Amino acid sequence: MFDDLKALAAAARGRRILDLFSADPDRARQFSAETGNLYFDYSKTLIDDDIRNALTALCDKAGVAERREAMFSGHKINETEGRAVLHTALRNLDGGPVKVDGQDIMPEVLDTLRRMQVFAEEIRGGAAQGGGGSITDVVNIGIGGSDLGPVMATLALSPYHDGPRVHFVSNVDGAHIADTLRPLDPTRTLVIVASKTFTTVESMTNARTARAWMIEGGGDPDRQFAAVSCALERTEAFGIPGERVFGFGNWVGGRFSVWGPIGLPVLIAIGSHAFDAFLRGGQAMDLHFRSAPWNRNMPVMLALVGIWHRQVLGYATRAVLPYDQRLARLPAYLQQLEMESNGKSVAMDGSTLTVPSGPIVWGEPGTNGQHAFFQLIHQGTDVVPCEFMVAAEGHEPELAHHHRLLLANCLAQSEALMRGRSVEDARQMLAGQGMTGAELERQARHRVFPGNRPSTTLIYPKLTPFTLGQIVALYEHRVFVEGTILGINSFDQWGVQLGKELATSLGPVLEGEADPASRDGSTAALIEYVRRHQR
Ligand code: F6P
Repeated sequence: MFDDLKALAAAARGRRILDLFSADPDRARQFSAETGNLYFDYSKTLIDDDIRNALTALCDKAGVAERREAMFSGHKINETEGRAVLHTALRNLDGGPVKVDGQDIMPEVLDTLRRMQVFAEEIRGGAAQGGGGSITDVVNIGIGGSDLGPVMATLALSPYHDGPRVHFVSNVDGAHIADTLRPLDPTRTLVIVASKTFTTVESMTNARTARAWMIEGGGDPDRQFAAVSCALERTEAFGIPGERVFGFGNWVGGRFSVWGPIGLPVLIAIGSHAFDAFLRGGQAMDLHFRSAPWNRNMPVMLALVGIWHRQVLGYATRAVLPYDQRLARLPAYLQQLEMESNGKSVAMDGSTLTVPSGPIVWGEPGTNGQHAFFQLIHQGTDVVPCEFMVAAEGHEPELAHHHRLLLANCLAQSEALMRGRSVEDARQMLAGQGMTGAELERQARHRVFPGNRPSTTLIYPKLTPFTLGQIVALYEHRVFVEGTILGINSFDQWGVQLGKELATSLGPVLEGEADPASRDGSTAALIEYVRRHQR
């Protein structure tokens, strides 16, 4: 599939990214994409015209345009689950019809959004009360896609918070819920149980614990519980009144669901106006994705840079490095979005993938990462393509000098990765410091940076709700394009099932009700250890 590109990669071996800039003074403009107020620079990679042409040709070969339209118009492109993929309908605010099985889903989408807005405003304004008065705290119980999106967006948009405090409990580790609930007033806390299936053992266990806590503390679960789910019969069985249940269709995948009812805690935190701007940002990215030519199309080029680095050059990981503390949870969010979507070795038709699957995605905000793992990124033996992100300005005008330092560090890192430092430069630097002879030679080697390490930079004016919507939709569409080129189904996640099944069967063993002898030797020994150390 990538033969042409592999040949181009072989021809580019030994080429320096920095030299591409000397050869083409217009390179930065040529190898960047802009939409609205976002600017995506991929010029600090080895991609040149020929490579880009070969990459964009992949889109035509893989039928990206056809599949993109099939997605937007409700075709069941999630073939292994027989489902449409329509998270884009959740931000289709202008409400043009979107049909699934011949039925326009937009009236229900917009009606649910209105109900969420009314509910959020009641909570924010104090009209909806807990047993002890107005709601001061909201606890969202959910995991995976029912947690990571709202967690990430709530933190990202903290300058816009003017509602109750919002907390998140995801882990089945009792420490998570215990530490979260401890300081809260059970009579003034709203619990949202967010689970697409309403069967996920972590969320159901946490929901029952939260209900017991509330009852014990004098709260009123009938007034203080809400649910977000596709399984309305299960929310009813759990005892959550229908007026506080917000449903969505199974055409929204968990990791793509922050735009709809799963975004309820974000909406409660920031209010309808800001949440609307977030949706509009996502919608703006949809319009761009559907209309821009491949080489100016930001999600497409982000995806093609990903393919170039992972499938063609073979780099196993990519680092997402937001120089934006409020995007601290974006790497975790993108880990699920990208790795649960494209971490697969079977193609849509059931055949074995003949190329590497999606990469390992990891990262941390800058500048913190610089003082932790950047050593390896600069001088390690593996090349890690880096995706930098930064705002032109922060939300704290009184701390503009902080922001200047943040920006300087972000831009310096991508420059340093590309430039590197030769042994001659290292020698000169040390000689300038008075070092001589064998010691200079020895020390110089440690100061060499190979350089020529690729990175991209996404820059935006300020992290507003609209911008965040653009960024999240940008990455969603990147996942779609990469998955389409690889020929895999980005919208199922069978790989998470086996562990869940084994955990269920291990429960009785840990309870002492079943014999550990049937497990493998390692697992049996670990179970024995637990039994010996539990009182
Ligand atoms: O871990 C698998 C998964 O199914 C994710 O895809 C999903 O986001 C998460 O579990 C939570 O599922 P639910 O929203 O149904 O509780």
